[in-house]
Amino acid sequence: MPKLIISGGKPLKGEIELMGSKNVAPKLMVASLLTEEECVIENFPMIGDTDITAELCRAIGSKLQIALRPRRGRVNGELCIQTDQILNHKVQSLSRRNRIPILAMGPLLVRTGKAEVPFLGGDKIGARPVNLHFQALESLGAKIEIGDGVYRAEAPNGLHGATVKFDFPSVGATENALFGAVLARGKTIIINAAIEPEIIDVIKFLQNMGAIIGLGAEKRIEIEGVPRLRGARHIVMSDRNEAASFAALALSTKGDILIRGAQQEHLITLLNAVRRVGGEYAVVHKGIRVWSKNSLRGITIETDTHPGFMTDWQQPFTVALTQAEGNSLIHETIYEDRFGYTNDLNLMGARIKVLAKCPTGSKCRFRDRGFMHYATVEGRSPLRGAKLTTRDLRSGIVNIIAGLTASGETEVSGVEEIDRGYYRIDERLRRLGAEIKRI
Ligand code: EPU
Repeated sequence: MPKLIISGGKPLKGEIELMGSKNVAPKLMVASLLTEEECVIENFPMIGDTDITAELCRAIGSKLQIALRPRRGRVNGELCIQTDQILNHKVQSLSRRNRIPILAMGPLLVRTGKAEVPFLGGDKIGARPVNLHFQALESLGAKIEIGDGVYRAEAPNGLHGATVKFDFPSVGATENALFGAVLARGKTIIINAAIEPEIIDVIKFLQNMGAIIGLGAEKRIEIEGVPRLRGARHIVMSDRNEAASFAALALSTKGDILIRGAQQEHLITLLNAVRRVGGEYAVVHKGIRVWSKNSLRGITIETDTHPGFMTDWQQPFTVALTQAEGNSLIHETIYEDRFGYTNDLNLMGARIKVLAKCPTGSKCRFRDRGFMHYATVEGRSPLRGAKLTTRDLRSGIVNIIAGLTASGETEVSGVEEIDRGYYRIDERLRRLGAEIKRI
């Protein structure tokens, strides 16, 4: 198994290009199952998660062709995907490596009336139930049962429009509702839908395929079912979670990084945090430049659904907070168990305490349930190199950012987790002057 060896302690400087969004591209691959025609996905990230999704689509009957479109500094490819026939509605033999298979249920139900997908994998950051996915598909007319390691669904009479009201705006469940509803008979209304930019990008693709989808106020999405969808071409939005990771890297190492392809409209809340912590940024033609000249200061962060501070930014940003003068508070309201990585940072010299409390007056779903979802960071703490094991994707990038911030050598194992969501991260960071090698 590969490891990363990092020699840290120097400011990172230069330009880094974002890949296409990890949390969009696999969804577009699944959406392409809704038509027999060819779809072309540009700015396609060639990472572990898209490899796993390619395996899923092939098992279902898709033909895929991935081409690299080389351009200076360009990290992405182009995917042609076509599923003229569904050969297999059972994908249970696939290993449970990510959370995408459940999204294939809608397209499989629409095209064959049946679907069977395995229990899900993905990061271990909380219980991650699928009740809202089932709520959506059942409202649209599917019958679902849980078998031995698999979810089985049937809709012998097809899917029909319905009103789906979520008690939490889940990203995955909203996508499942969309995939089920676009070809269902009649109109579907999703109330309290997720409206993350990643969802909007998926909606744009579905719209290009011929779907009719309207966005209303207060997290409401309306879908008019159409009889068929056609092939489409789409450019995947840039990965704003990578952007947040590289911004945190610039702040933590006192560097100066131009994040090529970063879009301000997707990062407004993050940029507010960059400013509040004492970092600097400039929006330029090619992307967003982030740097820090002066010392950072501790701040309070609360994660939230869009347009709030994303849960996926919390971990890399915490490394920057270890380098800030004074105390910081972080309240995680999306996942109940997303602070495991703080043990690694403490091993490196950080002073982070994780507690089961909520701020006074907060309406957090996790209040009084014993979940360790609130952290205090005492700064500033010089970090020193350590031997670290990656727990999940974002804890992996934390290990890298902390290793590059720390004095001495850091060894990171479990790199395949990081490769699931960051394209050739070591190679790209070396262009910023990072001393990082894969062995
Ligand atoms: N939830 C339920 N029931 C459900 C579904 C979700 O209670 O049926 C709860 C979850 O347990 C969690 C919360 O809702 O506490 C958020 O889950 P959501 O469904 O919104 O997330 P997801 O679709 O599983 C995607 C991203 C995550 C990102 C979240 C939130 C993908 C593949 N994953 O997950 O990305 O954190 O949305 O924005 O799109 C990452 O990239 O590191 C990552 C974890």
